[in-house]
Amino acid sequence: MRTSVLLISMSALLFMNSACTQPSGVDSDKPQSPPTGTPPAGAQVHSNLAQLMRGVMFPNSNVIFAAQSADPAKIKATGDPSTATDPLAGTYGQWAAVENAGLALAESANLLTIPGRMCQNGKAVPMQNPDWAGLVQGLRDAGMAAYKAGQSKNMDMVVEAADQVTTACMNCHEVYREKTAAQGGMAGRCTK
Ligand code: HEC
Repeated sequence: MRTSVLLISMSALLFMNSACTQPSGVDSDKPQSPPTGTPPAGAQVHSNLAQLMRGVMFPNSNVIFAAQSADPAKIKATGDPSTATDPLAGTYGQWAAVENAGLALAESANLLTIPGRMCQNGKAVPMQNPDWAGLVQGLRDAGMAAYKAGQSKNMDMVVEAADQVTTACMNCHEVYREKTAAQGGMAGRCTK
């Protein structure tokens, strides 16, 4: 699943690139690139960027942050684990919850590469900017580091992975989210 979404979005990106560098009038019988802002076939955008962050990045990174200070192996299931709202205390809890939160963050990186998503202020997610792919890769790598920490059940590794997650979130927020009034405040988000 992950591979196919990634391949679809990557091929869409490559396709757009080749269309951009192609001199006009050449190979005009070739299919046109999809208009900017159209998700690749099979992918659909349902939320703005802030909603995606609140629904996926925020809760999953909190699982990894919580695991730094509380040994996941010692977290007890509370009530009925099958309806737990804290993944660490649920059916797929303890270290498995750390693994799954890491994978969710890594997968969420793919959602940051689907064209057509808007930010709250109505600006398009700046995925065409040259630094975007690297910032997204930072999130993917941090998620996979947390996944490996969960697999290894190693507290030092989870502390390091949590630090990597914080850095990945911050690196992007510093550029595209934190905007002073002089930088336009909310209206300046998702722009440089
Ligand atoms: C590649 C860029 C990028 C990465 C990586 C990223 N964010 Fe964001 N995030 C943004 C932008 C831009 C916004 C503002 C979105 C908007 O206003 O629509 C945002 C908004 C948010 C919000 C909502 C804030 C609000 O205004 O309500 C939360 C919560 C959030 N991010 C959490 C995280 C966490 C946690 C991580 C790391 C696990 C993360 N983000 C990683 C770019 C990023």
